[in-house]
Amino acid sequence: MIEILRQRRSVRKFQDKPIAPEKLDLLKEAVLRSPSSRSFDPWHFIFVDDKDLLEKLSQSKPHGSAFLKNAPLGIVICADETKSDVWVEDCSIASILAQLTAQSLDLASCWIQIRKRIYSDTVTSEDYIRNRLNIPENIRVESIIAVGHPAEHPVGIGKENLKTDRIKTNRWQ
Ligand SMILES: Cc1cc2nc3c(=O)[nH]c(=O)nc-3n(C[C@H](O)[C@H](O)[C@H](O)COP(=O)(O)O)c2cc1C
Repeated sequence: MIEILRQRRSVRKFQDKPIAPEKLDLLKEAVLRSPSSRSFDPWHFIFVDDKDLLEKLSQSKPHGSAFLKNAPLGIVICADETKSDVWVEDCSIASILAQLTAQSLDLASCWIQIRKRIYSDTVTSEDYIRNRLNIPENIRVESIIAVGHPAEHPVGIGKENLKTDRIKTNRWQ
């Protein structure tokens, strides 16, 4: 796990190559193994590999989602907000597990934030996506995880660059 964490970086350029079905299955298994508060499992995962849909989803917000157009896969991570008051945490855990599993499979990924983002002055990114993917009203969208074979290879952050001052022992000071 520490090697996966050392190597993982956000990747926004992908090869034009589909993800092997075995790897897709493992990504699906990984997100379904996400722990959730009180085991309510409020999440749903929409695996989008349709090119037209990916192009539409890449327009979910004015900045920070355009690269999804060239990814072979976007995992829309959403949850039933009536099932858990901490669905945001549950979805965030699933999101990072998808990213780390992708890394472990020699794939690369990037988180696209959707909750609290806007498509336009009058439409939220969540509503834009809900309409494109026929997602019901009670389902909230946290993120889309873009996944694919990397076409760029940012190096892992060196240990010397970690913010070691953020670690405290026992008390703040
Ligand atoms: C909660 C969260 C939301 C993010 N949203 C976006 C996003 O909308 N678009 C994007 O390109 N990157 C997004 N990222 C990726 C971050 O920009 C990236 O993780 C950060 O710059 C650190 O770089 P690294 O992942 O390569 O270590 C997001 C990351 C997190 C954790």
